[in-house]
Amino acid sequence: MPEKIKLCIIGIGNAASALIQGIEYYRSGSNNGGLLRPTLAGYHISDIQIVGAVDISDKKVGKNVSEAICENPLEIFVDFHNNFNVPVVMGSILDGVINETEKSINPGKQTPINMAEYFKSTETEIVLCLLPSGADKAVRYYANEALKAGCAFINTTPVKIATDEELTKKFYDAGLPIIGDDLQDQFGATILHKMILQQMIDRGIDIKESYALDVGGGAESLNTIYRTRETKREIKSKSVAGALNIDAPIVAGTSDWVEFLGNNRNTMLWIVGKGFLGSQIIMDIKIQTEDGPNGGSVLADIIRATKVAINQGAAGSIDEISAYGFKNPPKYPKNPAEASKDLANFILGIKKEE
Ligand SMILES: NC(=O)c1ccc[n+]([C@@H]2O[C@H](COP(=O)([O-])OP(=O)(O)OC[C@H]3O[C@@H](n4cnc5c(N)ncnc54)[C@H](O)[C@@H]3O)[C@@H](O)[C@H]2O)c1
Repeated sequence: MPEKIKLCIIGIGNAASALIQGIEYYRSGSNNGGLLRPTLAGYHISDIQIVGAVDISDKKVGKNVSEAICENPLEIFVDFHNNFNVPVVMGSILDGVINETEKSINPGKQTPINMAEYFKSTETEIVLCLLPSGADKAVRYYANEALKAGCAFINTTPVKIATDEELTKKFYDAGLPIIGDDLQDQFGATILHKMILQQMIDRGIDIKESYALDVGGGAESLNTIYRTRETKREIKSKSVAGALNIDAPIVAGTSDWVEFLGNNRNTMLWIVGKGFLGSQIIMDIKIQTEDGPNGGSVLADIIRATKVAINQGAAGSIDEISAYGFKNPPKYPKNPAEASKDLANFILGIKKEE
């Protein structure tokens, strides 16, 4: 039996809910449907042990983590059998809340706990940051507290953390992995967009223009609209065009927030290409995904791969993990297949040739 992976989650929102439910849902090992990797380096998803949970919402702080996740729009798919007896503690609000999210979050008035001490007392190995998009100060604060406490740090938000050379060097010097930035979904518009464009290029089609614009109903879409629309647009567009080396206008981003969509996201994909004799090919596709669950399986892989990095004594930016699971990694992979291969080699201890 492999040892447990001791994880502390910052931000008990929809993505945290999906991960926590996934640990329970797949615990028996009899159903692996929806998982990218049932086991990774011998670790099963249920080897992830939640030892700490941090939020600032009055609706969540003080509750057991399996009760706190019920406050999110994402539905509850599993029965918890007292497996998550971890109370959510009060973090530092900093820039975690904006006017538009204040009512739904309802920030608590409690004094924030000493975070580095909390990580130490819970024996946290990995800190997983699931804060809202645009909470730059808060994400940076938790990264520095993780560093102080000697924990690896995973940043799923678009805030520049793993792509910040100064911070990455500090983690390297401390012998700790730092992974990010901006989580890549298991099967969302970014992956679909890249796959279709890659196929068209491979079939000799000249891509002329393309966009992927989404509308979502979660707090995350609200944060994107009000705080990180431009950054997200830059990251998503670069993630598609950069990976494929296309010299045509490619636009990808979030265009609006529609509350009744809840945790769902609708993305409209538009592609125009020219084939033989300049003949036109036009594609107009819509994909609907559920935000939280769409990140769950990738999160499970990244957490287990980060544990492998810890076991190997790897420190600083772990490019193979970031390129596999994130939209804005320090080093872009050529394509998703190369990213998966590099991750598999990393897990086996095979170094990537530069
Ligand atoms: N599929 C995915 O879920 C996916 C994909 C890509 C990126 N991400 C990233 O994951 C992050 C989380 O997404 P989400 O949908 O769970 O967001 P969410 O808005 O549902 O949850 C965020 C949580 O953070 C809490 N919070 C706010 N400020 C805080 C602070 N200072 N300290 C502690 N907690 C604080 C909020 O109360 C809330 O519970 C986002 O940055 C998003 O960009 C998620």
